Amino acid sequence: MSTHNPSLDQDHVALLMDRVESSADAIAKAVKRTLLSPRFYTTDHAAMDRIDVSPVRAEWDAMMKEYEGDNNHDHFQRDAAFAEEVRTLMPQLSPEMRQEFLDFLISSLTSEFSGCVLYNEIRKNISNPDIKQLMAYMARDESRHAGFLNQSLKDFDLGIDLGNLKRTKHYTYFKPKYIFYATYLSEKIGYARYITIFRHLERHPDKRFHPIFRWFERWCNDEFRHGESFALMMRAQPQLLSGLNKLWIRFFILAVYATMYVRDHGRPLLHEAMGMDTTTYDMQVLRVTNEICRQVFPVELDIEHPAFKQGLDRLCAISQAHALAKARGGLWGKLQALGHAARGVLAFAGLYLRPVKTQALPEKIRCEPVW
Ligand SMILES: [Fe+2]
Ligand SMILES: [Fe+2]
Repeated sequence: MSTHNPSLDQDHVALLMDRVESSADAIAKAVKRTLLSPRFYTTDHAAMDRIDVSPVRAEWDAMMKEYEGDNNHDHFQRDAAFAEEVRTLMPQLSPEMRQEFLDFLISSLTSEFSGCVLYNEIRKNISNPDIKQLMAYMARDESRHAGFLNQSLKDFDLGIDLGNLKRTKHYTYFKPKYIFYATYLSEKIGYARYITIFRHLERHPDKRFHPIFRWFERWCNDEFRHGESFALMMRAQPQLLSGLNKLWIRFFILAVYATMYVRDHGRPLLHEAMGMDTTTYDMQVLRVTNEICRQVFPVELDIEHPAFKQGLDRLCAISQAHALAKARGGLWGKLQALGHAARGVLAFAGLYLRPVKTQALPEKIRCEPVW
């Protein structure tokens, strides 16, 4: 099973030096730019305006009806039982566990809000009615998700001012095609993560240490549908899924998979508290994501090959060593951090160059959230 020791070792203590004790710390953590933290994006609005969904019109219209039906409109409300669980369960968290849970809430909030900002900006800057309507629906959903997470941060008196986050966070420019690959993947992996946690806690309700996990089932159906929207937009532009673009697809799949794996292994207590082994959980999430992605990507990473997991474990070890060297500081610390960064690039390249599986795309694009 896992090669990672889930107990709190010295390395892990060092990684927790970035503690959140106040609202200012929470916003600083959300704004902070690291390789692993969620980013905010901008893109080419004129290119977004030109997208023609007519090749997938029937499936598109069916999807838009689902958005219009808005079956989660009443879902993101906290009830009395939620407040009661927070009141009794949160004081039981150890200080280290509290930090990991806050890290989880802040990074989840940042990525939900990142979607909200991106979709809203696209909506405001285009006139294409199909895409504009879609962006409005997705921004609506992500704003609910971010708001719901923020309420749980407020229970700790650590609510984040989202207007401030929007103004101060750095924005990365991505061409539309990179937005499609990256956002499709993050919506689908988001679904896979939420549903895997939800199903696990369904079987082990005694491990559900916070009520928010009870909300994940209906929540992740929104993420699934957002992913479906990007699948349809990509299938409407087949050039994005063929030729040299397959190399970009491989790159984005690996970047998204590796980021999740390394980040999750930086907070082992969270998974331990839920009674999950981090590696087993992550591999399950990757399996589900790989299966879903067959609707749109002609290439698939061979995640079951032992060398794949070895490569990810190497990236985790390098990332820990890098963080420790940075924390140590000084010229020697900086040099060591550079050395680890170079080793990280090599380990990533090794994974990138591994053979991939190829597949023909299915005629019916949409798939169902059956996991
Ligand atoms: Fe979301
Ligand atoms: Fe989403």
